[in-house]
Amino acid sequence: MSAGLDGIVAAETVLSHVDGQAGHLVLRGLPVERAAESLDFEGITALLWQGFHPLGGRPEELRAAIGRARVQVAVRLPALLPAIAGLNAVEALRLMLAALPDGNPADDAVMAVAAVPVFIAARVRHGQGLDPVAPDAAAGHAADFLRMMTGVPAAPMLSRALDTYLVTISDHGLNASTFAARIVASTRAGMASSVVAGLCALKGPLHGGAPGPVLDMLDAIGTQDAAPAWLAAELAAGRRLMGFGHRIYRVRDPRAEVLKRAVAHLSSPRIDLAEQVEKAALTALARHRPDRPLETNVEFYTALLLDAVELDRDLFTPVFAMGRVAGWTAHVMEQEATGRLMRPASRYVGPMAA
Ligand SMILES: CC(C)(COP(=O)(O)OP(=O)(O)OC[C@H]1O[C@@H](n2cnc3c(N)ncnc32)[C@H](O)[C@@H]1OP(=O)(O)O)[C@@H](O)C(=O)NCCC(=O)NCCS
Repeated sequence: MSAGLDGIVAAETVLSHVDGQAGHLVLRGLPVERAAESLDFEGITALLWQGFHPLGGRPEELRAAIGRARVQVAVRLPALLPAIAGLNAVEALRLMLAALPDGNPADDAVMAVAAVPVFIAARVRHGQGLDPVAPDAAAGHAADFLRMMTGVPAAPMLSRALDTYLVTISDHGLNASTFAARIVASTRAGMASSVVAGLCALKGPLHGGAPGPVLDMLDAIGTQDAAPAWLAAELAAGRRLMGFGHRIYRVRDPRAEVLKRAVAHLSSPRIDLAEQVEKAALTALARHRPDRPLETNVEFYTALLLDAVELDRDLFTPVFAMGRVAGWTAHVMEQEATGRLMRPASRYVGPMAA
């Protein structure tokens, strides 16, 4: 038995490989550093879908299909928006994605990918008492998201940074949300249901919910001089430092470096403080747990990047889903093509009937 399933191999995949000892991530044969540099969101999605979807390996056709699907899915907004009152950003996204039907997996995959930014942007505007901005089928996915949210075209530097982020986090082995999506796919429940399962798992603070709290931590620390004492007090109180530690990586998460480099191109008001806090946190963690390497994970610089792209922190998890849905959909199709119903066993430790 392995609580937490550490080290248990539950699927074969051609999609991504995580080497936690060396700190490498490979996406369909491409190191994450190269993928982030050379592909945009539609490009990585086409790559991940290669061999599983009719538009896999055909980025331009997929770009057009995703653009058309953004327009199609926006038709659902008037019916959905009244239902999200009182929900936070990720709960609202969960509700709206759950309204998508399970039909043909290939069409549903395009729809799921297209729907996420449309839903996030519409909810932001709804919260401000504004009508949704209509999608532009011809625009890039990242750029169109930022425009649908604010109503004005984003600076190319910002949409490029967002693309870098979306590619960097598009897939990551059998992480909890991908596993959840694959379990649901293994029952043949369908694409939309599998994607909703992925989002539900992503929402938790130990998975995709960490970057918002990273900014909260930087705010609470305030100045670099205050970092060592603040961090030591957190650890002494038994709390975890957000943006550090990982189930698989025993060295620095390679995605942290990719995102740190991307943030350097933007004007982030917090970058200097963040770098100092990172250093202080690594020192504090090494002292606190000399037995366990606890290094910077992807969420630390995710927080900095998404903040510099001018997104509110409650959008960080939904925007994580906007990138990771590329991986979830690919895994769902791979599971349907190659997998088996997932049905692990449990060890009964309760009383037996007398
Ligand atoms: C990511 C994370 C859930 C990985 O967890 P995991 O592989 O299950 O690691 P464990 O929970 O086994 O942690 C091992 C030990 O290190 C400690 N630890 C792990 N991450 C820590 C952190 N960020 N700060 C302080 N202590 C930490 C744990 O408390 C645990 O101590 P224990 O053995 O006394 O209980 C964990 O590192 C964490 O909670 N990090 C903060 C949240 C975060 O950044 N999440 C984003 C992940 S990409």
